[in-house]
This record gives sequence, C-alpha cells and structure tokens, in this order.
Amino acid sequence: MTPIDRPRPAPRRSALYLPASNAKALAKARTLPCDVVILDLEDAVAPEAKEEARAAAIAAIAEGGFGRREVAIRVNGLDTEWGAADLEAVAASKADAILVPKVNSPQDIDRLQAALAGAHEAMQLWAMIETCASVFALEPIAAKARSTRLSLWIMGLNDLAKEMRAQSVPERTPFLPFLSMAVAAARAHDVTVLDGVCNEFRDLAVFEAEARQGLLFGFDGKSLIHPAQIDPCNTVFSPSAVDVEWANAVIAAFALPENQGKGAIKVDGKMTELLHLEQARQLVAVSEQILRQAQDDRA
Ligand code: COA
Ligand code: MG
Repeated sequence: MTPIDRPRPAPRRSALYLPASNAKALAKARTLPCDVVILDLEDAVAPEAKEEARAAAIAAIAEGGFGRREVAIRVNGLDTEWGAADLEAVAASKADAILVPKVNSPQDIDRLQAALAGAHEAMQLWAMIETCASVFALEPIAAKARSTRLSLWIMGLNDLAKEMRAQSVPERTPFLPFLSMAVAAARAHDVTVLDGVCNEFRDLAVFEAEARQGLLFGFDGKSLIHPAQIDPCNTVFSPSAVDVEWANAVIAAFALPENQGKGAIKVDGKMTELLHLEQARQLVAVSEQILRQAQDDRA
C-alpha cells in the first residue's frame, strides 16, 4: 500500500484536556465538537484528588457516550507514586489511548509497550514530548512507532519552558527549533503530532495566532484547555475552501489525457508535480472526512 491508500486516522485537529476530577467538565466534553478528549490525571489534578480522578476517568470510559471522539487518559509519570496504578487501570480499560508524560527516550517507549502487553489490541500509546532530554532523542523515539503502539505525540511547552528556564512569549521564540525538529521526526515515522496548549484561554485572538503558527509548522492539530478554543482550532486545522479548490484543480489537471505519464505539469500558472497530486488527494480525503463527521454530529 502506498501512504495515500492507507486508511488515514480520523482528523485530530483539536484535543481538549480536562481534569478527570472535574465531573462537570467530563459531562460537557461528551457534547463538545473536539476530535479528541484527554482525561487528565497528571498536571491538572492536585495530589489529594489523584485517586478520585483515576476512578472518575475509568468510570467515564466504561460509561462511554463520547461518540466519534477519541478518548485518551493522561497518566502520572511512572516515577511518581501514582504512575503504576494509573497505568494498570488504563491498560485494563477501553480507552482509545494512554497518554504518557515526560517521555525521554526510546527505552521509555519499550518499557511502556511491555507494560501495555495485556491492553486491548487497538489501544494506542501517545507520548508527551516536553523534556530537555527528549529534544535530543526525537528521531529514535518517533522510530518506535514502527514496532510499538506509539502513534501520536503532544508537545508540552509549559513543562519544557520550566525545565529550560525559557520564557513563554506569544511568538514562542525559544521553542521554534524544537517545534520544527519534532514535526520532522514525527513525519519521518508517520506519527501524528499535536501542538502544545495556549494558556491564554480568554483571548481567542492570541489563541488563533498561535494555532496558525502551529499549522505553519506542519502540526496536525493542537491540544486545548478550554471549550472556547475548540471552534477556532477546528477552523485553523481544517482544509480551507481555497485549499480544496486547489486540490480539485490539481487532481483534475493530472487526469487530463494530455497529462498522462507526466511528472510535472502547469496548474494555474504554477509548476505542479506528482508530490502535489499526492498532497491534493490527501487534502480532499481529510476534507471529506471532516464533512462526514460534521454531518454525523448534526444527525
Ligand atoms: N473541558 C470541558 N469543559 C470545560 C473545560 C474543559 N477543559 N474547561 C471549562 N469547561 C467548562 C466549565 O465546566 C464550564 O461549564 P458550564 O458552562 O457548564 O458551567 C464552562 O466550560 C465554562 O468554563 P469557564 O468558567 O470559562 O472556565 P473555568 O474558570 O471554570 O476553568 C480552567 C478554567 C482553565 C481551570 C479550565 O478550563 C480547565 O480546567 N482546563 C483544563 C486544564 C487542564 O486539563 N490542564 C492540563 C493540560 S495543560
Ligand atoms: Mg506537564
């Protein structure tokens, strides 16, 4: 199968975190238009609420009601007092994915893979990329996707900033090399890669600028902390009408009898190659999937 024939994963434009200990947010998440819901047991949950949050997350998965949304549980690190119990509970659940914080190395992925031996077959392993050590192991970590459950990364810039002692500015200057290296490593091994959160949840102009920056870097979507961020995020990470028009023009041009067997042709006055045809087909496939999803959501 060529990459284009392979079934594409559902779009992951918007991945909303919520503290699993927050019952109201949990109920609300089932009705929100995000593509992914992340039930957090880690940073968003205070130490005294960890056990309760774990139980609530497991109960929510058992209860279901999330429809088309993929649901992940973010566990505490394995080096914390809650990590082992979190992992055991999630591995026995029907969650779509387990999201593990502070992954540093390919060996970490091997250990997690072994710990998930008894999990249901489709359970994916998702990794937070958020430590200084991971910056120097991006490619070997991504390469583990070829032989393990690893399928998706989420950037964690709040933790990275803390560890680097870098300052968080709207332009995200200190993190730009890291962001582009992470996207390249993920792409090299077909790993889905989501941008970090924007803490500024009351200012949607700031959010949208950051989401557009993420799109520019090549991210598949963005992780979110508040429902208000979902719609702008979905808009930014959905193919635009102009993109779809371009893609259809490219597909139509390559289908013309006079262009059969050609590697490079002219479309709208621009040089267009077979690689653009592949991009165009992918774009149309994603756009159709998003349309179908929106129809299902309305039904
Ligand atoms: N998921 C689902 N629902 C959420 C939500 C989330 N992440 N954040 C807020 N809501 C709900 C609230 O429960 C509230 O519901 P209601 O209208 O039924 O009362 C509504 O959205 C509006 O919330 P609002 O009052 O604007 O926010 P808040 O002040 O209650 O909460 C935060 C602000 C930041 C504490 C909250 O958004 C949050 O906990 N976000 C996630 C944090 C997290 O998981 N961090 C870890 C990853 S970095
Ligand atoms: Mg963190």
